[in-house]
Amino acid sequence: MIALFSLALVFFASSLHVEAQEIESRIKVYAGRGDNITLPCKLEGQSNLFGNRIKWSKLEDDSSETDVLISMGLYKKAYGNFQNRVYLLETDDHDATLVITDLGVSDYGTYRCEIINGMTDKIQEVDLEVQGVVFPYSPRLGRYNLNFQNAEAACLEQDAVVASFEQLYGEWRNGLDWCNAGWLNDGTVQYPITKPREPCGGAKTSAGLRTYGLRNKNNGRYDVFCFTASLKGRFYYLIQPKKLNYEEAVNACKRDGAEIAKVGHIYAAWKLQGYDRCDAGWLADGSVRYPISRPRKNCSPNEAAVRFVGFPDKKQKLYGVYCFKAREVE
Ligand SMILES: *[C@@H]1O[C@H](CO)[C@@H](O)[C@H](O)[C@H]1NC(C)=O
Repeated sequence: MIALFSLALVFFASSLHVEAQEIESRIKVYAGRGDNITLPCKLEGQSNLFGNRIKWSKLEDDSSETDVLISMGLYKKAYGNFQNRVYLLETDDHDATLVITDLGVSDYGTYRCEIINGMTDKIQEVDLEVQGVVFPYSPRLGRYNLNFQNAEAACLEQDAVVASFEQLYGEWRNGLDWCNAGWLNDGTVQYPITKPREPCGGAKTSAGLRTYGLRNKNNGRYDVFCFTASLKGRFYYLIQPKKLNYEEAVNACKRDGAEIAKVGHIYAAWKLQGYDRCDAGWLADGSVRYPISRPRKNCSPNEAAVRFVGFPDKKQKLYGVYCFKAREVE
């Protein structure tokens, strides 16, 4: 029975591309990490969903498509990392609205709802935007050391994912100016310039995203732009009697029932919570930074920013530490 059902699903999934489809409307939904959200999709008028197939899929930035959920009458199947996280709301027999629980950083993007009964197919696209922040990243090894796979791993280690073009573009419109080129999740390499100047592509060029285009994912070595979303937990500077080296910093957070914070945590706290602290502190990757949202003398006089001190020798007892305590799951 189960085997038969899977076979039917495979057949169904591959026979979906009906001609003369029209995307009827487009909706935007905004959410934060950990939220439960609904992506609306409804049949209008007399017709009900009885006997229809419903397919929810996600359109990825590299224009591939991922199955999210397929429903045929009583049979429902969720796919990949959507298993156990998605269901149909089914408030009435016109309703194909999808619920996604515990939203993650990689869930942003365009979702497509298709209702198929052979005669009138309805397609609804919903753009899901996860509130977050884009930040440039390069590891201790230094600038231009990451191929695409390394870049994905580097963002993941900072509680983030590789940013999309739209996300970097949004951050550029908010004033991000960065003179080092970094990977985006579509395999291109770009950098955002708001103040054109000689060393960053020319002083006479216009502001914008400068692109190197698609690069070789194995051999190309650049920095990366990471995207992280609002925190599911508390980011804080740990008050300590004296300055710490890296190992002491890691242990101090542990003793406080927390972990040493990641670069994604400091950016999310700074950008989305206005966190401000003029003390340089260790982070998990061995870098030292501090978040300034109210620019002032001796901290970051000219701009709100996460200031980067560097990747100091881990034995130096010169800094404080930022910790992160994940919110307990009830
Ligand atoms: C989201 O839904 C899940 C499962 O239905 C529930 O356990 C959880 O409390 C909800 N979370 C929020 C933030 O509402």
